[in-house]
Amino acid sequence: MSKKILVLTGGTRHGGNSEQMADAFVRGAQAAGHQVVRYDAGFKAIKGCIFCETCYKLGEKKACSHDDVFNELAPYYEWADALVVVTPLYWYTYTAQVKAALDKYYSLMVAKRPQPIKEAYLIACGAGKDDYKYDAIINTHDLIARDRGWENRGCYHVNGVFHKGDIQQKYLDELEEIGRTF
Ligand SMILES: Cc1cc2nc3c(=O)[nH]c(=O)nc-3n(C[C@H](O)[C@H](O)[C@H](O)COP(=O)(O)O)c2cc1C
Repeated sequence: MSKKILVLTGGTRHGGNSEQMADAFVRGAQAAGHQVVRYDAGFKAIKGCIFCETCYKLGEKKACSHDDVFNELAPYYEWADALVVVTPLYWYTYTAQVKAALDKYYSLMVAKRPQPIKEAYLIACGAGKDDYKYDAIINTHDLIARDRGWENRGCYHVNGVFHKGDIQQKYLDELEEIGRTF
């Protein structure tokens, strides 16, 4: 069955490991016939939520009263039935841009907007070589999924990648296959 997948990426450098991981997943998902929208938050000046709860109060297209960047992402949150977050570890969690983008999901909850996402998957990479260094992000992903009633489809992570291009092709091949069978 064709799914509507929002791929939210947090990488901040072009040609980086996480960008290649996202590319691979998207290639597979599209080959399988899924509809994919990719939002590269890592390249956006997206701001964090300030808990004003004026979401959508200034109009249908103003999901956030203070951040026009989020207004371009919000319709994709209302469109997707699956969310795939692809991020490098920054201090053992999402990059700040992905965190801001996830914080802003609160806007849809405040305004009781359509929230069709039913499942979530996490793809992460980092320089750290020990698996325990991914515990925090995996746990956060799980808590968000449980909070929202999304099925947690799990986490794929590649450790020990620091420089651009450190990621090995075998992992990209695996991610393409994961996209194909998502
Ligand atoms: C500000 C910053 C914080 C980072 N924090 C971590 C970390 O907590 N754990 C880790 O394993 N790697 C950390 N890294 C390394 C990156 O996760 C790693 O280089 C990754 O491959 C970068 O992804 P990219 O190639 O898509 O940019 C950090 C890098 C930066 C710039």
